[in-house]
Amino acid sequence: MGKLPRQGIDWHEVLHRLMSIMRRLPNHLEHGIVGSMTTFPHPLAQFVYSMYQLFNANDVALYSEVRNLELEAVEMLGEILGCENCVGMITTGGSEANLAALYLAREHGYTKVYIARTAHDSLFKAIRLLKLEAIEVKYDSYFRIDPDDFEKKCVENGAGILVASLGTTGTGSVDRVAELSNIAKKCSVVIHVDAALGGFVIPFIDAKLGEVFKFQNVVSATMDPHKLGLVPIPAGGLVVRDEQWFSPLYFESRYMPARYQIGILGTRSAGSIAATWAMLMYMGWDGYRRQALSLFELTRFLVEKVKSSGFDVVGEALAPVVCIPTERESKALEYLWSKGLYVYRCGIVQGIRVVIMPHVRREHLEAVVRELRNFVNTEAL
Ligand SMILES: Cc1ncc(COP(=O)(O)O)c(C=O)c1O
Repeated sequence: MGKLPRQGIDWHEVLHRLMSIMRRLPNHLEHGIVGSMTTFPHPLAQFVYSMYQLFNANDVALYSEVRNLELEAVEMLGEILGCENCVGMITTGGSEANLAALYLAREHGYTKVYIARTAHDSLFKAIRLLKLEAIEVKYDSYFRIDPDDFEKKCVENGAGILVASLGTTGTGSVDRVAELSNIAKKCSVVIHVDAALGGFVIPFIDAKLGEVFKFQNVVSATMDPHKLGLVPIPAGGLVVRDEQWFSPLYFESRYMPARYQIGILGTRSAGSIAATWAMLMYMGWDGYRRQALSLFELTRFLVEKVKSSGFDVVGEALAPVVCIPTERESKALEYLWSKGLYVYRCGIVQGIRVVIMPHVRREHLEAVVRELRNFVNTEAL
């Protein structure tokens, strides 16, 4: 176990062992992965990723063209969120983008973070890593930031950064950035929008909710190509309003020909950048809109089915996340997993979470509701 072989083993044998493990792993195309925010990436993105993966995007002198691709990709992500000429970078995922966003805020003097419990765990992780001060803001019965409570807190505490979500992890609720932005202005609060999941959905179904950069105090956003962008893991997106706000993410690197690197990491694969650029070009606005509408429709289908079967849904489920509350969360999860339906936990309340990703089909959703009913019946015996 975990012992370095004295002499290397035949590579066929290496592959054989890995293939046999891989065959046992649940995968998106054959199995019921209905609770994760991962999906089967588009074949074009997989191909482009492998074409570019060996180039170091953080070798900015050698691969300046990769940085150009990255800026184009980020600008396109920004456009979806209502931004003209946004800058930023492709990260390894939403967690790195959120960490980098709060780091930027701190470097610009904002050390207080207004945050609701509905925000993704990575933001609490970032607050801890960066030693920022969290000011908890309440959320309403739809799991959206409560504007009155935010106003009260920001009048009391003053300048800071508010974290809003476009599609919360636990219930798919969408914070009302327009209203929050008006309040934030009064207290010198800037806003970071975590649109890791919802960024590829909400702007396509409701521009007023989704085009968050239209509000001047929104300084940055997270939007993940490796979720609904159909790009392979790892690919997150940090979209920043302008170069001035982004500038603290340039770090000195004394040995590199360009003398600097971008972001928290050192070596970064150009694969994620090229694959993101490729998918944005290939899908275009219409392609992502079609996908968003079809996910939205399936989400509505599930919400109706859950409700008509005697269960409840909490939150808004505007982004394709459906949280079905149950006090027997672990038992229900175990039961559904035993039926090959890999649901997750809502996190914010006791309940099971379904995420309608592009590989999820109507039959999966019908099976989830059917098995939930069977679970309740077996429990009642
Ligand atoms: C809203 C939101 N933000 C951030 C993240 C973190 O993304 P990642 O897992 O890519 O780091 C997630 C992951 O589920 C998320 O749902």
